[in-house]
Amino acid sequence: MLNLVLFGPPGAGKGTQSQKLIEKFGLIHLSTGDLLRGEIFEGTALGLEAKKLMDEGTLVPDKVVIGMISNKLDANKDAKGFIFDGFPRTVAQAEALDELLISKSSSISGMIALEVNDAELENRLLLRGKSSGRPDDANPEVIRKRIKEYNNKTAPVADFYKNQNKYTSINGIGEVNEIFTSICDVIATWLKKAN
Ligand code: AP5
Repeated sequence: MLNLVLFGPPGAGKGTQSQKLIEKFGLIHLSTGDLLRGEIFEGTALGLEAKKLMDEGTLVPDKVVIGMISNKLDANKDAKGFIFDGFPRTVAQAEALDELLISKSSSISGMIALEVNDAELENRLLLRGKSSGRPDDANPEVIRKRIKEYNNKTAPVADFYKNQNKYTSINGIGEVNEIFTSICDVIATWLKKAN
């Protein structure tokens, strides 16, 4: 199985690159942000709880997102592999993901971190906010809060995978297709090692 953690701050390009990776590798895309927005759209109790936190740029509780991922792994038993996008976002989530995968005799192949500076992230998200209607893209204050949450709670997840020798960072600034090629080059080295 090919299980990729696509990592990076808000606006780094995780969703954009995931779409291309799905097409090339036939993986299942698990984006906790998309799953939470789905719950909000459906008006579920979970969605109502998450909306307030997401709109202000705060992470939702670990238990909620771990439960969602666990359900999705169970529902996709025959998958060739998964792209985890926006998950894990805390060390507790990373530990839980390892346990969930071990219970399915699987593991994370590696993490690819997209490196993008804060000014570029802000520009990208403000630009997207104009057309997407995502409340958490709407103003610079919330965007800065999301970046702060990333630096405080999510950045340490990189060390979790560095300690397992599963971490690679690439430049996330530049042409989308060039970044995609860099990601594919990293995955090719994993596949070569696995064979
Ligand atoms: P989530 O939906 O995961 O948002 P995010 O991490 O903030 O990521 P984005 O979707 O904003 O950015 P992205 O990296 O996917 O970039 P994209 O490709 O879209 O999370 C939202 C909220 O949900 C969180 O704040 C939290 O409250 C909650 N949440 C989610 N998961 C959670 C978890 N595990 N635990 C707890 N809470 C959780 O690109 C962004 C823009 O840039 C687009 O307009 C795109 O076209 C453009 N772009 C992409 N690549 C390039 C490029 N190379 N050059 C120029 N522009 C580019």
